[in-house]
Amino acid sequence: MTADGLKGRAILLCVSGSIAAYKACEVARLLVKAGARVRVAMTRSAVRFVSPLTFQALTGAAVSSDLFHSQQELTAGHIAQADAADLIVVAPATAHLLGAARLGLADDVVLAALLAARGPVLFAPAMNERMWAHAAVQENVRVLRERGARFVGPNAGEMAEAGHVGMGRLAEPEEILAAVRAALGPRDLTGKKVVITAGPTREHLDPVRFLSNPSSGKMGFAIAEAACDRGAEVVLISGPVALTDPPHARVVRVVTAEEMLAVTRREAAGAHVLVMAAAVADQRAEKRATHKVSKKPGAETVSLVRTEDILLTLAAEWERTPSRPIVVGFAAETERVIERAKEKLSRKRMDLIVANDVSRNDAGFGTEENAATILDQGGGAEEISRVKKRVLADRVLDRVVLLIAKRA
Ligand code: CTP
Repeated sequence: MTADGLKGRAILLCVSGSIAAYKACEVARLLVKAGARVRVAMTRSAVRFVSPLTFQALTGAAVSSDLFHSQQELTAGHIAQADAADLIVVAPATAHLLGAARLGLADDVVLAALLAARGPVLFAPAMNERMWAHAAVQENVRVLRERGARFVGPNAGEMAEAGHVGMGRLAEPEEILAAVRAALGPRDLTGKKVVITAGPTREHLDPVRFLSNPSSGKMGFAIAEAACDRGAEVVLISGPVALTDPPHARVVRVVTAEEMLAVTRREAAGAHVLVMAAAVADQRAEKRATHKVSKKPGAETVSLVRTEDILLTLAAEWERTPSRPIVVGFAAETERVIERAKEKLSRKRMDLIVANDVSRNDAGFGTEENAATILDQGGGAEEISRVKKRVLADRVLDRVVLLIAKRA
């Protein structure tokens, strides 16, 4: 996404009463620096942590903090502000604020603006880790997400209370800025169906044992989220992972390579793009035992057979059809990374392959970040240094958008 994606965009930054409110000053500063037109609204408790004057100085605009202040309502009326905003960002969002927003309460400027909002809303929660983990807060988050709200964070780390560590810290200002960019990013996949596979597959030997790999699914999920943000109709076919479903994707859960092949075949028919980010297990037991197999003395042998290669199978089937989706594959390698990826790109008839070195332990399997090289059919290689998986996801989709335009 271009660096000036925020230039001229109207953002209403809503601040609620948390010790993390001071970090909202940095968020305001970064947004202004990126060229956004920023207005700030504060709850009654937020003004006890940070003065509205600070935000006024940072944004150069009147701050609204009092629903019943006639002058404020004239210069920064909450309905008009909500209407004018391309995006409302609530940072920090306290447990109370999330609960009130879920209920549709409106007794301060922030809540009233949220009720009047018609555009996208991004919450950056911040609270004690026990409060965040509470079922009531989690339910409020789920309901707000279902209504279309986006969330960034919270992160894990030290809490304001001495000795408290856990999930609840406000996302860092740069992360909030990235989430703002994502929420306001290009809608260049509108009208396109994008099918994404993610995570590992599991091939059971018996009901309690299986062959699999350490894929966390994070890369595939990041691509699904990015594709949703860019307006695509997204189907995410996922093996067993411990991640929550992206709110705007249709998620189909599968277990085995065979199931993944069947669902991918069905969903990819008529799709514009197929991204195979799944780490499909290459072998399964020749015979799956119906009951748990007991230990036997001495050496034991398991007879394995190859699972079907999903991309190879579909590529062969698409030879006989007039249209096939743009195919992006992944190659997680530990040696001769580019050479092996190139070979897979041509053998599996992909349009792009994202090659990464999983022998590094700071990027790849299970981590938040990835370093990769995107290879194309024309021999091009784009190197991407260590970035968040979400950033890599957008870089891959930028290439996909170019390929779609070429085909049209
Ligand atoms: N893939 C697939 N079906 C499989 C295995 C892999 O569709 N049974 C896809 C993966 O999702 C990935 C690409 O093929 O997009 C390359 O995966 P990889 O495991 O690196 O390929 P393999 O052909 O299995 O190569 P290797 O011999 O290195 O395991």
